[in-house]
Amino acid sequence: MKILGIETSCDETAAAVVEDGTKIQANVISSQVEIHRRYGGIVPEVASRQHMLSIVPIVEQALSAAGVKPKDLSAIAVTHGPGLAGSLLVGVNLAKALALSWNLPLIGVNHLEAHIYANWLGEDIPAFPVVSLIVSGGHTELVLLKNHGEMVRLGRTRDDAAGEAFDKVARALGLGYPGGPAIERACKGITPTHRLPRAWIKGSDDFSFSGLKTAVVRLAEDLQVANSTSPSPAALGLAASFQEAVVDVLVNKTVAAAGNYGVKQILLAGGVAANKLLRQTVVSRSTIPVLIPAPVLCTDNAAMVASCGYFHLLKGERSGWELDVVPGLKLGASPR
Ligand code: KG4
Ligand code: ZN
Repeated sequence: MKILGIETSCDETAAAVVEDGTKIQANVISSQVEIHRRYGGIVPEVASRQHMLSIVPIVEQALSAAGVKPKDLSAIAVTHGPGLAGSLLVGVNLAKALALSWNLPLIGVNHLEAHIYANWLGEDIPAFPVVSLIVSGGHTELVLLKNHGEMVRLGRTRDDAAGEAFDKVARALGLGYPGGPAIERACKGITPTHRLPRAWIKGSDDFSFSGLKTAVVRLAEDLQVANSTSPSPAALGLAASFQEAVVDVLVNKTVAAAGNYGVKQILLAGGVAANKLLRQTVVSRSTIPVLIPAPVLCTDNAAMVASCGYFHLLKGERSGWELDVVPGLKLGASPR
């Protein structure tokens, strides 16, 4: 079964064709990062306009790279939330138009759930039950997945998402945009200089990163390295200390939850899961297997959307033409 996936929730315009939820036939991603860089963050109106310009050629490119015609497809899966309303609308409306004209089932997919499904696109297929950590620009969620569609949210961030903290700290230290990759690059080979605060929130699987972010911003001011144009060794040491602290909390809480719930595997997902220190640390501290998608499948893409859609389709689920965008869609709450 070949599914066309469409993703436009944020600043990546993406389309992919995936067979049986696991085999990527084509995965085309057009990033808007260069367009938003000059603003130091994503401008929603600019993002949706760019999606409108890119989405049709991107879908055509995915179909041609996969060597498939519309008649070879079994369904169209599209992200309908969470994300930016104007951006989501572009993908959802195109998916509806194509599904209607090609007479294919339409499946609305939750972007956060789709991130988890990037783990079905690698060499090892996950074995339930699993604990999954989803760390992206807008979310930090820890979930227990007992089977496809059977998920329990264990914890979430109470303030900033992990990726958001990376982005804000990188801006404060003048390291560039987007912050996650900028900090990772800048910290290569740099030894952390500060023991920064970690919010453990004992007895809860929730996270909190705003205290850590504020501590970095204050220290940057004290050290007079805030917003400098060429980062000093002091700024780099501070960035490395920040990265170490975020990774420490993410890994400790995920490994502890996996132990508490007696799961077989840990799955990482979301843009921050592209971070090498996070990848290495979770593997070294876990006693059970850890699955982490290839970096290009951690950040936003449509292959994960197609895979997620496939497993919903297998259960006989599909969306109606009334499918709408839900910018604040929660995990485990995708209405179909
Ligand atoms: O999943 P994603 O592509 O988009 C959302 O759904 O938000 O995640 C983007 C986030 C950004 O905050 C970005 O700074 C962060 O993921 N990110 C990273 C890395 N690559 C992307 N954070 C840390 N290290 C990285 N290598
Ligand atoms: Zn995402």
